[in-house]
Amino acid sequence: MRESSVVVRPEAKDSGWYSAASRLQAAGLHEAITLFEQAAEVVPIPRSPRPIVIVDYGAGTGHNSVLPICAAISVLRKRTRPEHSVLVTHTDVPENDFTALFRTLSEDPDSYLKRDPASFGSAVGRSYYSQILPSNSVNLAWSSWALHWLSRVPMPVGDHLLAAYSGDAAVRTAYAKQAAHDWHEFVAFRGRELSPGGRLVVMAMGVDGDGELGFQPLVTALVDTLADLVAAGVLTDEERQAMSIPIVGRSAKDFESPFAPSGTFEKLSIARMELFEAEDRFWKQYRSDGKARVLGAQWAAFTRSALFPTLSWALDPNREQPVSVFFDELQKGIAARIEADPVQIRIPLAQLVIEKRAD
Ligand SMILES: C[S@@+](CC[C@H](N)C(=O)[O-])C[C@H]1O[C@@H](n2cnc3c(N)ncnc32)[C@H](O)[C@@H]1O
Repeated sequence: MRESSVVVRPEAKDSGWYSAASRLQAAGLHEAITLFEQAAEVVPIPRSPRPIVIVDYGAGTGHNSVLPICAAISVLRKRTRPEHSVLVTHTDVPENDFTALFRTLSEDPDSYLKRDPASFGSAVGRSYYSQILPSNSVNLAWSSWALHWLSRVPMPVGDHLLAAYSGDAAVRTAYAKQAAHDWHEFVAFRGRELSPGGRLVVMAMGVDGDGELGFQPLVTALVDTLADLVAAGVLTDEERQAMSIPIVGRSAKDFESPFAPSGTFEKLSIARMELFEAEDRFWKQYRSDGKARVLGAQWAAFTRSALFPTLSWALDPNREQPVSVFFDELQKGIAARIEADPVQIRIPLAQLVIEKRAD
């Protein structure tokens, strides 16, 4: 996985923090799921025996997909007979851990497979930057926490890890160009796959009112710890220079760009769009228990699973120390920094509903 699902995963079930509600809230998905349910109320559905097709783009482990999909199926069931089949297709890149995905589908108590006997799970291991499903076949589509990852690293960031925080205008331009291209391609291919009247709900990283990506204190802790690790000899300067994290936050204008100027593109239009800030649930916990050490540990664990794998692409394959030593030291450093200076993390997100014209 290119990004963790820790921010998007609930606390362990025995932590006292777990509940279906916290799971959604943690993911910033609460509103998006409502949009998905509203879409399920109105999308045209095929006549039985043709299945209703729901697609999950960038599914990862499927952990955060099962609730929205279950919710959509419940809404659809008010419009169909219980035996009308629903085919759910989870898509991701070929390297994704599809074993984990299928385990979620069969074991998670919130899985639609456990809730709806006429639902069927399937998966496609291909990037969504191409057409990966038949034209006009998808009735409802979902994508969460995926579209901020660029399809490629346009160039090394050099002075930072994230282009958004680079002082180099050429870096920022290259990443913005790639982000525009990727969003254009994603939308264009969904335009083919969605059936007439079909709807797609997207939740991805946005920017805040100042056009900032957010996560700044966390990213600063990461960058500063990397500098310490270079000084301590855990990381070479070359390895550090080669590191970059190819994620972008998009503004409303960025999301609208493929649809400009007419508002329509490949028969698609934006039915709704909101940029908002998700709750920092680790901060909320800290405000109630005052445990800075826990706050540091939670954000460091999130960063490890969200971003360390991407950083590891830059490591010298012949390095003597195991990668786990680098990961452990980096995690420790981030945790200590956040513990020493606890702050709330801003998490700007965007959610959109995209609709295909009914023929
Ligand atoms: C953080 S995970 C999100 C998983 C899940 N949707 C969620 O909300 O927790 C991001 C996922 O997007 C996938 N992804 C990134 N680029 C992709 C692409 N070009 N095509 C398909 N999936 C992609 C990653 O492999 C990863 O599984």
